[in-house]
Amino acid sequence: MILLFKEVYKLGRIAMLLFLSLPVLSQDKDNRYPPTSQPDRVNLTVTADPSTSMAVTWRTTTDIGTAYAEIQVANANPTSIKDAKRITARTETSAVESGKYKELVWKGVTANYHSVIFEGLKPNTLYSYRVGAGDYWSEWFQFRTTGSNGQKLSFVYLGDAQTDLYSMWSKVIRQAYTQMPETRLVLHAGDLVNRDNHDEEWGEWFAAGSFIFGMVPNMPSPGNHDYGRDENIHKLSPFWRPQFTLPENGPEGLKETCYFTDVQGVRFISLDAYMAEESDEFLGKQQRWVDSVLHNNPNKWTVVLFHHPIYSPKSSRDNKRMRETFKPLFDKYKVDLVLQGHDHTYARGMAKIPMQQKGSTSGTMYVVSVSGPKMTDSGVEKKYWMDRSAVYTQLFHVATVENGKLQFRTYTSTGELFDAFDLVKQKGKINKLIEMMPAK
Ligand SMILES: [Fe+2]
Ligand SMILES: [Fe+2]
Repeated sequence: MILLFKEVYKLGRIAMLLFLSLPVLSQDKDNRYPPTSQPDRVNLTVTADPSTSMAVTWRTTTDIGTAYAEIQVANANPTSIKDAKRITARTETSAVESGKYKELVWKGVTANYHSVIFEGLKPNTLYSYRVGAGDYWSEWFQFRTTGSNGQKLSFVYLGDAQTDLYSMWSKVIRQAYTQMPETRLVLHAGDLVNRDNHDEEWGEWFAAGSFIFGMVPNMPSPGNHDYGRDENIHKLSPFWRPQFTLPENGPEGLKETCYFTDVQGVRFISLDAYMAEESDEFLGKQQRWVDSVLHNNPNKWTVVLFHHPIYSPKSSRDNKRMRETFKPLFDKYKVDLVLQGHDHTYARGMAKIPMQQKGSTSGTMYVVSVSGPKMTDSGVEKKYWMDRSAVYTQLFHVATVENGKLQFRTYTSTGELFDAFDLVKQKGKINKLIEMMPAK
């Protein structure tokens, strides 16, 4: 009798366990990147001053209600981790619904997103940190805070990643890191994914970046594909703010899409080009904001990052609102470099060729690029309008700033140097452009 009772009890337990695991199994089957108790999507993002602070964000299932980050100055002695400082994370639960559009079906996801801003850090110092709770912790990552003004600075810039992120974009971000491991930040010029509300695409983006995102802070600027349109209301991706902890120094309503950070004598500014294109109100807000951010700028160099190009290499496209609003400010404040995306091709120059002939160059270098495999050639003119250009080439860029010179290098995803120029500061005059490679 006791034996029989034990058997029935055992079968009952198995049935109960199977029943409880059903939702998990179905989620696993339909989403290749479901959250678990183990932290994932660990990524650093820039703060307003990454020489003394750094932001980290990660994701878990909702059973992890309280989570922590631990940090210390990096130390080769493994027993030193017991001295790491523990900081309680800010946690928010985000639920994104499943959806269907024509043939396309996507799974929703509910997860907890945790973030910590490490503060009071020492400049140019290697730190070690991990994130987690209870039995579930990330590995110990290492990152270096940025240094002081005038120190040599390298950074990476990437155009649209957008599609086939895991299969085809991963090699680009990894090659960029291999080529420039001392990069202090990675700039993304929008369209990080193709469909803003698809968790799987974000899962691919993070899988491609992997541990690099835990070691080097990202500076993402949103593109049109990082926005969704619902009954004509423009909605930033529901994953953007939970996943990225960015400086909240932008205009009201555009926090964490429009912001700036100062790194070693370079002011990096992100504009929200999609909202500038779509809304008069948010165009005006950004115009006033960027005017003041450029006016009150103690840095020697200025780099502006956004999605919709001032000079489009595609003949069928022209972002007149962007050009007419922001170019006069870039001219007035002698912005050095403008980094953009959207057109899925490569082109760079100080103006479109017909506009150059009208003498409208002002010393600002405009670059459009693409890092992912989605390519455009329809509507792109033979010479792509600018001084240097490419189609059907996955690219990344590394720039190094030192001693009044900015060296800009364009590499293909295979690591081959494709284009190179230097910008040299000249007192009271616009930058001197030095071409470092013969025209192709
Ligand atoms: Fe775009
Ligand atoms: Fe795009």
